[in-house]
Amino acid sequence: MLKKLKVLMVTSEMLPFAKEGGLADVVGSLSVELAKSGHDVRVVMPKYGSISDTTFTDLGKTLSVPMGCIGTVDSGVFKCKLPGAKGTVYFIDNKQYFGREGGLYSDIHGTGFLDNDNRFVFLSRAALELCKLLKFKPDIIHVHDWHTAAVPVFINKAYHEDPFIGEAATVLTIHNLQHQGEFYEGLMDVLGIGWEHFNYLCLEKDGNTNLLKGAIYNATTITIVSESYAREILTPEFSFGLDGVLRERSGDLVGILNGVDYEQWNPETDSLIASKYSDTDMSGKALCKSDLQKTFGLPERPDVPLIGIVTRLVKQKGINLLAEAVCNILEMDIQIVLLGTGEVWANFFFGDLPNRAKDRFACYIGYDNTLAHKTEAGADFFLMPSEFEPCGLNQMYSMRYGTIPIVRSVGGLNDTVENFDETNGTGTGFKFYDFTATALQNTVGWAVHSYYNNRDKLEALKRRIMKIDFSWKNAAVKYENLYYDSVKKRIGETIFEKRFH
Ligand code: ADP
Ligand code: GLC
Repeated sequence: MLKKLKVLMVTSEMLPFAKEGGLADVVGSLSVELAKSGHDVRVVMPKYGSISDTTFTDLGKTLSVPMGCIGTVDSGVFKCKLPGAKGTVYFIDNKQYFGREGGLYSDIHGTGFLDNDNRFVFLSRAALELCKLLKFKPDIIHVHDWHTAAVPVFINKAYHEDPFIGEAATVLTIHNLQHQGEFYEGLMDVLGIGWEHFNYLCLEKDGNTNLLKGAIYNATTITIVSESYAREILTPEFSFGLDGVLRERSGDLVGILNGVDYEQWNPETDSLIASKYSDTDMSGKALCKSDLQKTFGLPERPDVPLIGIVTRLVKQKGINLLAEAVCNILEMDIQIVLLGTGEVWANFFFGDLPNRAKDRFACYIGYDNTLAHKTEAGADFFLMPSEFEPCGLNQMYSMRYGTIPIVRSVGGLNDTVENFDETNGTGTGFKFYDFTATALQNTVGWAVHSYYNNRDKLEALKRRIMKIDFSWKNAAVKYENLYYDSVKKRIGETIFEKRFH
C-alpha cells in the first residue's frame, strides 16, 4: 500500500463555513472523504466577515504575504478541526480583504468587489506562505476555479526552489470555465513574478492577466467536474475562449463527476423536511408535497404535478429560456415553485410572476437552505434547463428524494440523467437537447403528460432513482489515484517509489 499524502486544499468557499454555490459542497465533502481515507488534509480559506469564529483557535502568529508592488501584507490565521474527519481548516484573517459585509465576492447589492483580484491573489499566496510558517510540506496542492488559480503559477514561477513547497504537485479543478479571473495587465505587478510571464503560454489573454489560464498552463493536472463538460470545454461553444489552451493540456485533463453528501441530502434522515421517507415507504413524500404547497401559499392539491426549481438566477442556468417559456408552461394544469436569487431582471421577473399566475407559480427570491431541502422533497419534478452545467448537484439531490429531473442534456446533467423511455419504462428523468424555449416547453409537457397518463412507470422510475448511488466514495478514490499520479509526474518515478512505497 502507498504511503498517505499530505494535501493542501486552497479554496474560496467550503461548507459549513461559507457557500455561494456547489463549489462549497464539493470542497467540503471531498476534503472529509480524503481525510477519512487517512490523508493529512489541510484546507485554507478566507475568514470572511460572515464566518462565526466561536470554535476557532487563533494561531497567534502573523503571516507576512508578499504582494508585489503593494508590498508585504500581514494577516492573522485561525484554525479549527475539519468537521467530520481528522484534518484542519485554516482561515486567513485579513480584515481589509475579507472582513467586509455582503457576499463572498460581491456587496449586498450584488456588485462584484472591485479588489477581487487582489483579494484572491492574496489568499493564494497566503496559503503558500502558511505552509512555510507551519513547516508543512504538501505533496499535493489542490486549487479550485479562478480564485485560487494563482497558486500553480506561484509554485512554478516563484517557489520552485523553495524546500517546503517547491516540489508540490498542483491540481486545478475547474468547476466553471465562465469565470476566469481575467483582470487588467497591471495585476502582474501585484503577482510580483516578473513580466516575462505575461505571455501567451502563461498569464496573458487578450492583453489582460487571466489567472485561470495561468493555472491551466502551470498545474500538474487539471480536473473537470464531469466527463461531458471535460469534452465540451475543448470546443469553442463551451470554452469562453480557452479551448485552444485546454486542448494543449488535454493529456493532463480528466473529468471526475462530483459526488453527493448523503448525510445532508437523504429523505430518510433529513430533519429539514416535513416528513421523512424512503423508497420502501413513500407516504412521507406526499406530506412533504402538501407542506411545500402550504409553505409557498399554493393550493394543497395532491394530484397536480409540482415542479421545483432551486438555482442561482444567472444565464448559465437557462433562466432566460425559462422566462421565455414559463407562460406557455403555466397554461398546463401544474404548479411551479422557484427558489433562487441572482440577476436583477430575473429577481423582478420571477418575483412578479405569482401576481400573474396565482395558484400555479410561487417563488422565494433569496437563498434559503431549508426551503431548498423542502423543494427537493416536496416536488414531483425538478427542472434544470441549463445553457451549460459543469456538473450540477441539484439533479443528483433530487433523485435521492424521488423527485424526477427534467434537464437539458448538457455537461453533468447529461452524465447523470438517462432519458425516460416510455415503451419499456427505462430511464431516470426527462431530457431535452436543443437550447430553445420550444424544446423546454415540450419536454415539460411530456413529463406532465406522463404524470397524468403513465403513472405506474413514473412511480417505478421514482423508486429507481432513489437507489442510485452518487456518493463521494467513487469520486474520492478517483481523486486519490489522480493525486498519486500527479505527484509521480512532478517528482519523477524513482523518487516517488522511494517516498511512497
Ligand atoms: P452552482 O454551483 O452552479 O450554483 P450546483 O448545482 O453545483 O450549481 O450547486 C448549487 C448549490 O447551491 C446546491 O447545493 C443548491 O441547493 C444550492 N442553492 C442554489 N440556490 C439556492 C438558493 N436560492 N437557496 C438555497 N440553496 C441554493
Ligand atoms: C459550479 C458549476 C456546477 C457544479 C459546481 C460544483 O458552480 O456551475 O455545475 O456542480 O460548480 O462543482
